[in-house]
Amino acid sequence: MNLSTTIAGVTFPTCFMNAAGACCVTQEELEALGESHAGAIVTKSMTPQPREGNPGPRYHSFPGGSINSMGLPNLGYPAYAKLIPELRRFGKPIVASIAGLNPQDFLEAAKAIELAKPDLVEVNLSCPNLPGEPQIAYDIEASRRILLELQECLTIPMGVKLPPYFDPVHHEAMAGMLEGVNVSFLSLINSVGNGLVIDPESETVVIKPKGGFGGIGGTIIKPVALANVRAFWKLFQGRMPIIGVGGVVTGTDAFEHLLCGASAVQVGTTLVEEGLTAFERLEKELSEVLTKKGYASVDDCRGRLKEL
Ligand code: SIN
Repeated sequence: MNLSTTIAGVTFPTCFMNAAGACCVTQEELEALGESHAGAIVTKSMTPQPREGNPGPRYHSFPGGSINSMGLPNLGYPAYAKLIPELRRFGKPIVASIAGLNPQDFLEAAKAIELAKPDLVEVNLSCPNLPGEPQIAYDIEASRRILLELQECLTIPMGVKLPPYFDPVHHEAMAGMLEGVNVSFLSLINSVGNGLVIDPESETVVIKPKGGFGGIGGTIIKPVALANVRAFWKLFQGRMPIIGVGGVVTGTDAFEHLLCGASAVQVGTTLVEEGLTAFERLEKELSEVLTKKGYASVDDCRGRLKEL
């Protein structure tokens, strides 16, 4: 089965890759992704300075999903800029995720990362876990300003990781803005921000930062992820490559993302819970689904969701 896919001119050997944040902070984790069946190596979202992130506990899984408030722990972009050329030896695409606490951070990271020559840059405008900082992509004008500045200093294709939107008006507003900037792909969606998971037994929250509020991932968010993939696929009439993120636990989940219009999928909670062997399993499961359905490739089924 042909599970390869192409996004912004970059060919991925399979359509499965890690979500930025899942098992991709340290050199060891990034090398392990290189050795695994992952179709790409996606870095943790990097900031100018190394960050320890939020105090723990900051990740908790529950039946159906996870909650996290990591707070962008990362090595800082100089470390990733040095690592990226070394990761080339694995022969798969490298996606550098950049983030920041202000517009200047994004610019600095982009300039440094450009020199390290990843294949794609994913601009994370949607981290929900920075106390006191709103998710940038809920502010269309602020997002536009950052992306316009980034496009001036990046020659590497740039994509944007967006938060979930819950109303067509917001899908349309964001898509309208994106039409005016040089964005080559979308990663949809980041975790569903500021959820709350509690333990009724101990009567406490399960993570420490932000009074227990954090980003929700896993199966429970799949319908929201699929809706966002579908909405943006339709708004761009299939012209904008989309990486679907959210609720990919099985090959069938990945197939659903592809049907909605995704060209590839990222795996977050499942990777954290199951480990790197998840990629091989997902490949096998998706191949079986596509074979059973009579599709020859990822491209073959992309966007083919039927409406009633
Ligand atoms: C985090 O580090 O808090 C998660 C990153 C994100 O959701 O963008």
